[in-house]
Amino acid sequence: MTADKFTVERLAAQKGRQRIPALTAYDFPTARLLDEAGVPLLLVGDSLGMVVLGYPDTTHVTMAEMEHHVRAVARAQPRALIGGDLPYRSYDTPELALAHARRLIAAGADYVKAEGGREILPQVQAILGAGIPFCGHLGMLPQHVVEEGGKYRIKGRDDASRQALFDDAAALEASGVFACVLELVTPPVAKEITQRCTKMLTIGIGSGPDCDGQILVTPDLTGAFPWFTPKFVTPRAQTGAETRRAVTEWMATLG
Ligand code: KIV
Repeated sequence: MTADKFTVERLAAQKGRQRIPALTAYDFPTARLLDEAGVPLLLVGDSLGMVVLGYPDTTHVTMAEMEHHVRAVARAQPRALIGGDLPYRSYDTPELALAHARRLIAAGADYVKAEGGREILPQVQAILGAGIPFCGHLGMLPQHVVEEGGKYRIKGRDDASRQALFDDAAALEASGVFACVLELVTPPVAKEITQRCTKMLTIGIGSGPDCDGQILVTPDLTGAFPWFTPKFVTPRAQTGAETRRAVTEWMATLG
């Protein structure tokens, strides 16, 4: 194991003390750069479907594609914990969930993530029962985007949706889930979940400033996927534009 590797316990100890930065990585050089910058939590997210593979949404990502990208990230041997997303339909039953979680761990992931709350609890318990750390994902669930009419909607706006989020978060925490992504959850609800959960880390994305950590899709932060940037992200670089400039400049030197 890499010396000074981050652990679930070390990150858990940061709750209420120090915010946790998390970023997606899909390949070896990005994982290496993020590790050199000191990011403690990486996720090989199925967002790779859009920002790397050119699919319209995450529902097209396969298990073989996830394993391929987890392997590439693991080759960088980061100190950061590496997460692997269980892709669409790969965790329909507890047996499938565990078999696929084991494949992501064998590919080099340190933890796995799947979308949903109480409805996937048997799957979560099967994974945790095998000693595999699990990260939940509540709020807007990208793997449900087709069912939701193609819209990425904010969650927690009405009483029923708020209560469902509180109950899902409580159930995940009670199962022993170490962290949970809260995606597009209204900021007051994300804050309350963060306060109610005394052990489980909340990792927000588009859910306000009060979560235990924040995760972004790295190309959104670096400007590497300039054709779409979510409203809640301020890109800190323009690597897409910079690539175009470098290539154009080089072509001009050829005469
Ligand atoms: O797939 C992904 O990158 C994710 C993050 C947005 C949390 O699930």
